[in-house]
Amino acid sequence: ELEKEMERLDKEFWISGEKLKKIVTRFRDELEEGLQENGTNIPMNVTWVHRLPTGKEKGTILTLDLGGTNLRVCKVTLHGDSTDLKDPSQKYTLDQEQYKLPGSIKTATAEELWTYIAEKLSDFIDQKLGGEYNDTNKLPLGFTFSYPATQERIDHAILQTWTKGFDIEGVEGQDAAAQLREKIEERKLPLELICVINDTVGAMVASAYNDHDTIIGGIFGTGCNAAYMSSVPSIKKLDPNDARLKDSDGHKSGQMAINCEYGAFDNAHRVLPLTKYDAQIDEKSPRPGEQAFEKFSAGLYLGEIFRLVLVELTDKGLIFKNAQSDKLRKSYTLDTGFLSQMEDDESRGFADTRRLFKDVLGLEVTDEEIELSRRLAELIAVRGARLCACGVAAICLKEGIEKGHVAADGSVANKHPKFKKRWAKALGEILDWEEKGLQEDPIIITSAEDGSGVGCAIIAAMELEWRAKPT
Ligand code: BG6
Ligand code: GLC
Repeated sequence: ELEKEMERLDKEFWISGEKLKKIVTRFRDELEEGLQENGTNIPMNVTWVHRLPTGKEKGTILTLDLGGTNLRVCKVTLHGDSTDLKDPSQKYTLDQEQYKLPGSIKTATAEELWTYIAEKLSDFIDQKLGGEYNDTNKLPLGFTFSYPATQERIDHAILQTWTKGFDIEGVEGQDAAAQLREKIEERKLPLELICVINDTVGAMVASAYNDHDTIIGGIFGTGCNAAYMSSVPSIKKLDPNDARLKDSDGHKSGQMAINCEYGAFDNAHRVLPLTKYDAQIDEKSPRPGEQAFEKFSAGLYLGEIFRLVLVELTDKGLIFKNAQSDKLRKSYTLDTGFLSQMEDDESRGFADTRRLFKDVLGLEVTDEEIELSRRLAELIAVRGARLCACGVAAICLKEGIEKGHVAADGSVANKHPKFKKRWAKALGEILDWEEKGLQEDPIIITSAEDGSGVGCAIIAAMELEWRAKPT
């Protein structure tokens, strides 16, 4: 009977190449709609980042990253193309501190969130900057705020909705930049907020500092999203009278980085093959009906999908018979690391997996249960990786991009042993690389440089450079 269940799961989680293509067709339409007008399903947020870096940008900038699991503060010094560097590949130096976000912050209030952040900024300044900056000599600050935000300028970010399980009262619909600035002023910190960016834009810009083949910045981590450079005339929803977008002849011109926020793809569930486990995740999340695509494919959810299947099989009396399964019944106890470790296990008789179940869930597992768990972990991770390829394929097809580097960051891309291979295979299936007889993959995934540190600092430096230009 267990085998029958496994066959059912196999079918439910497998997405064929043909189906991926159908998903991508719809994906392209939703990306395009997002450029046409405001309020569509995929927001396609404009970022006011007008170009990729030249690699010459210089400066010292403090960066702050609020991503989901950690808060990171970083002093970044960009050396640009200085020739006096001992090691020319070392184009920047970093001094950083990482703080684990307290679990309670996800459901705190805006006041608690910004107070916590200002405290950490203050600690960093006291411990690392030694009185170098003051009220008349402020250090520029860049803020990586990795949530969907409407930006009217680069130093402004109205939170559209919390994602990744966050539910902090008093920030949605408000300008996160203004809230942070207020706290900075209250504490008299010697900082001037220059820009607010998304992690996808940071990954793209940081990579482009060194790699001119960068086409997309993608995050495959707790959440799932990407950014690319769009031509300004194709962003139809932009105000045609906005002088910032016109060339000297008064025509709309130039480029703009778009933070797609495509975790929201297919919120209407038209094409994604929804299983009952996906439906359960959505129902219990703080924002049901939102981030449909992300809930299928991002790191925050993969372990939870796995757990829900195991709970169902336990309830049917097929596994963990007569065992204490209360730990397994606790939501979000299993992270993607749990699945990665299982897929990575090369120990004899899968002793490592056995230990993992014992340590994390207090369960003694049989050989049959190990085999089932390993197959299931693979099914869920494969589905996630294949879906992740759809977002990138949709951007490439829409933009006519045929080659280049997708600068990727995030815990799934970096820590899941098989993600990149599966992602690349699916991308090839969607874009028909084999049929085209290509010898090498023309679009490849590369490891993004530090987006929320270096990328954010570069964007702040570009902004300062632009502000300093005579008008
Ligand atoms: C980090 C980047 O490496 O990865 C952040 O610097 C990004 O900008 C993060 O938000 C995403 O990964 P995860 O797995 O923490 O969501
Ligand atoms: C979520 C956020 C998005 C971010 C992504 C990766 O999708 O909404 O802003 O880029 O996670 O961290």
